[in-house]
Amino acid sequence: MRTRAHPPGCEPRRGAVPRPLRAHSFRGGPLAAVLLALAPAACTPSASAPEPVYEEKDRAAEAARLLSGPDWFRHAVFYEVYVRSLQDSNGDGIGDLPGLTSRLDALKALGVDALWLMPIMPSPFADSGYDVSDYRAISPEYGTMADFEALRDAAHARGMRLFLDLVLNHTSVEHPWFQESRLDRTNPRADWYLWSDTPGRPDLPCGPVPTFGTSAWTWDPVRGQYYFHRFYPSQPDLNHWNPDVADATLDVARFWLGRGVDGFRFDVIGLLYESAAGCSMIPETVAYIQRLRTLLDAYRDRAMVAEPTWFGSTAPFYGDGRDMFHMAFDFDYGLGWGLTFAESSAQPLADHFSAIAQDLPPGAQNAIYIGSHDVPRAFERANGIASRWRRAALVQMTMPGTPFVYYGEELALRSGTQVVVDARDRARAPVPWAPGVGWGFTTGQPWIAFGAEPERTNVEAEKADPSSNYAFYRSLLSLRRGREAFGTGSLRVLPTDDPSILLYVRESADETYVVAVGMDEGASHTGVASGANLPGDAQRLLGDARLVRDGTAARVTVPPAGMGVFRVR
Ligand code: NOJ
Ligand code: CA
Repeated sequence: MRTRAHPPGCEPRRGAVPRPLRAHSFRGGPLAAVLLALAPAACTPSASAPEPVYEEKDRAAEAARLLSGPDWFRHAVFYEVYVRSLQDSNGDGIGDLPGLTSRLDALKALGVDALWLMPIMPSPFADSGYDVSDYRAISPEYGTMADFEALRDAAHARGMRLFLDLVLNHTSVEHPWFQESRLDRTNPRADWYLWSDTPGRPDLPCGPVPTFGTSAWTWDPVRGQYYFHRFYPSQPDLNHWNPDVADATLDVARFWLGRGVDGFRFDVIGLLYESAAGCSMIPETVAYIQRLRTLLDAYRDRAMVAEPTWFGSTAPFYGDGRDMFHMAFDFDYGLGWGLTFAESSAQPLADHFSAIAQDLPPGAQNAIYIGSHDVPRAFERANGIASRWRRAALVQMTMPGTPFVYYGEELALRSGTQVVVDARDRARAPVPWAPGVGWGFTTGQPWIAFGAEPERTNVEAEKADPSSNYAFYRSLLSLRRGREAFGTGSLRVLPTDDPSILLYVRESADETYVVAVGMDEGASHTGVASGANLPGDAQRLLGDARLVRDGTAARVTVPPAGMGVFRVR
């Protein structure tokens, strides 16, 4: 039901004027569909019952309970950090580990439980660190191993966990393994990479990842052969078919586990092995991931998240739910939400998250994001519409899974314009912490220019403004904190008679929440979920929507671009 406005105390009643919409299929390509919308027919007065106030648990104690033990990652809020852009400590304009350590309290106060650091190992930075030249050291621009240990200890002292980004599919051309391998065809590492006399091999029928070039083969004049790479030519693929290579990369994970990291984000892990049988997640890659999991399980409370190599179901990354990844990124939501919100229909999101709940094996935990280092800033993808960005974040925080927040997201950080490495740099600008030269990020010249509007988006300014995006984001994180239902509770989508309202229930053993998201940015809507069967009346915790229980039905009213989170038990 769609209304432009209605007088206070007078709510629209169901009518039945069908309105065709074009729906977008979230999980696959565009799909034409016709959905019916119900237009208002009349207006009836509504009795306003007093809102219940449910007894509140000690949320800090609940958070501490949920964030301990092997399931901690299901309740944590992760924060992806591009160390280069978070905080510079020595005036060289490059963010570094001591700088990050100095900002841990700020991140903790925001509600961050775990950090994922983009690659911090030595690298020529031809791909922002995803071209590693030494797996067992720290990039000198970022600091030393002692700085790393200080960061780890400071994080752990605050109850925060630390994930590293492991890039095992390829190295930098500057890695000593490659430097040795390229020397000739007989050296001890001659087949640690994939070589060929021609720019192609029948057992490697795979092209480069789109946007990284047109050929997966580059001529090396030193060895006089071509080498294989799925990414930039400066990132040769390791030959995991050689068991010594597989052992060596597993040993990299062992090295960092021994140094106390709590887990890893595995870069393009599905591409580890290729064969005539396929270019992603072939059985040998699955077997390797199982070895990784066995390795992690030998340590306490560790976890790992996969960067998948496709859109659609991530089920193959989870195995039986216990023998592969703990989490895998939800590319469909992460890359598709902008389009879906622009189209104003709730169905694609309802379908997407319901399908995940069905598809993934028991124990699998979806990893939900709205921004990352690889895509334009979320605020840009929301077309600069703050309410769209906010609702996308609400879905991220309240659908089943673990939220991964890209640094600066809490500020709705704007895109930059300067490019140092490649176009993705637009989403990698430094954090403006406070007004002043260098915006509190550096006392020197920043390695890359700040994004647009730092005077509006700096942390200090946003913190001082209770209506800021930062204030909203913080309230979202604190809403989720210590509430088991959002991390691991069940999901029940409540279909309503209004296709623009996304309504769903999250339920744990002793608490039930309802989330309402208005997909229409231009009009108010009221929808009725006839089979809602809510266990109690609604106490609104966040937002501007209204939810009224009416027997077994529930009636929800959402202002334009509105939202609501309610407790009903
Ligand atoms: C995926 C990473 O997210 C991306 O930034 C990088 O360029 C490629 N993998 C290659 O490592
Ligand atoms: Ca620095």
